[in-house]
Amino acid sequence: MMWDAIVLGAGAAGLMCAIEAARRGRRVVVLDHARAAGEKIRISGGGRCNFTNLQITPDRFLSQNPRFARSALSRYTQQDFIDRVSRAGIAWHEKTLGQLFCDGSARQIVDMLLRDLHAAGGELRLGVRPGAVRRGADGGFRVETDAGEFAARAVVLATGGKSIPKMGASDFGYRVAEAFGLRIVPTRPALVPLVFTDAQLEAIRPLAGLSVHARVGVEGQKIAFEEGLLFTHRGLSGPSILQISSYWTPGRAIRVDLCPGRNLAAEAEAGRSAGLGARDLANVLDLPQALARSVVARAGLSGRLADQTRAGFETLSRSIHDWQLVPAGTEGWRTAEVTAGGVDTRDLDARSLSARSVPGLHVVGELVDVTGWLGGYNFQWAWSSGWAAGQAV
Ligand code: FDA
Repeated sequence: MMWDAIVLGAGAAGLMCAIEAARRGRRVVVLDHARAAGEKIRISGGGRCNFTNLQITPDRFLSQNPRFARSALSRYTQQDFIDRVSRAGIAWHEKTLGQLFCDGSARQIVDMLLRDLHAAGGELRLGVRPGAVRRGADGGFRVETDAGEFAARAVVLATGGKSIPKMGASDFGYRVAEAFGLRIVPTRPALVPLVFTDAQLEAIRPLAGLSVHARVGVEGQKIAFEEGLLFTHRGLSGPSILQISSYWTPGRAIRVDLCPGRNLAAEAEAGRSAGLGARDLANVLDLPQALARSVVARAGLSGRLADQTRAGFETLSRSIHDWQLVPAGTEGWRTAEVTAGGVDTRDLDARSLSARSVPGLHVVGELVDVTGWLGGYNFQWAWSSGWAAGQAV
């Protein structure tokens, strides 16, 4: 049988694309090597799926071409997805910073998509391992699989990024895109904890488990994120670190302000004249005690407030508000939430997500060199890009 479209990958973008294409009367089949569809949706957002963000704007996505995502994001918006979720009777709430989560379980989003796919007449085949994808003599495509060959007029690559291989992530989509001559922007783990050398860990490890509100930037860039920072046994994590990891490149320092909006060193210095001089320096800092002791030690200081010099307070200020440290690396694909880089947007049409040089081949979701911030941005890109391709196949 000749399908109108074969969608490879039953994740967020693939399911969305298949639903929309099937609603337009296209005969669509979705193939996935996993035993269950939408597994990353199911585990996302701590099991509650941060399915979009109220503040979606194109500048919150990283790409070699920052304008590329604009078309799909404006044609299928966060409000369109919110309306879909509400119509499905799924209760949701805003957690923080515009991030929308299910009140109940992420499973509800997967179930909604599978119901919609079924209702639209789309087919889903799980546990099917695709192999070579090639053009047929008729101008269509052939997809070899362990369940036989599939033929279609269009193929949509929706096999997602490389993160969490344990859950079925693979580099399949990148390889197929490359085989068709599409360029790939080098991929790297993003939204991922940062790790440090043993020497640096000596200062970080004793604070493991401690979480503070911090502002984190990266050397040489204007961007900075003010969110939680978590000290761990391996390094630094928490939302502010995951966010900056997407912008960090090896060798660069990250800059951490452990108490943004204040100058704790100046406040301490002022405390001297307010009669606090006899107190231990670490005790007057408005930080968790272990952290206060750590920033004082890192500044090479000790002793009473009264004993500190002007230069000492300046060093302390840098230790608290501009702690610069060069990560040894990231935790890698094992824990990264997304893949930065991917199919080069120069080779794709922004409206239809189709390959400019291969009519009928589309690439959607995380495979594309579009990577969102933490907080529902990546799912919105999956919904929007999937929707856009669904209108075109
Ligand atoms: P996705 O990964 O969803 O789907 C790809 C599909 O292709 C999978 O079903 C996979 O089995 C299949 N596949 C892969 N290789 C294949 C092959 N060789 N053959 C056949 N099938 C193959 N984002 C967000 O916005 N909010 C959030 O709360 C979270 N939370 C979160 C938590 C965790 C732990 C992770 C790892 C990621 C997130 N994300 C997130 C990111 C989000 O999950 C991700 O950006 C989207 O799922 C991407 O959607 P895609 O459809 O592109 O890929």
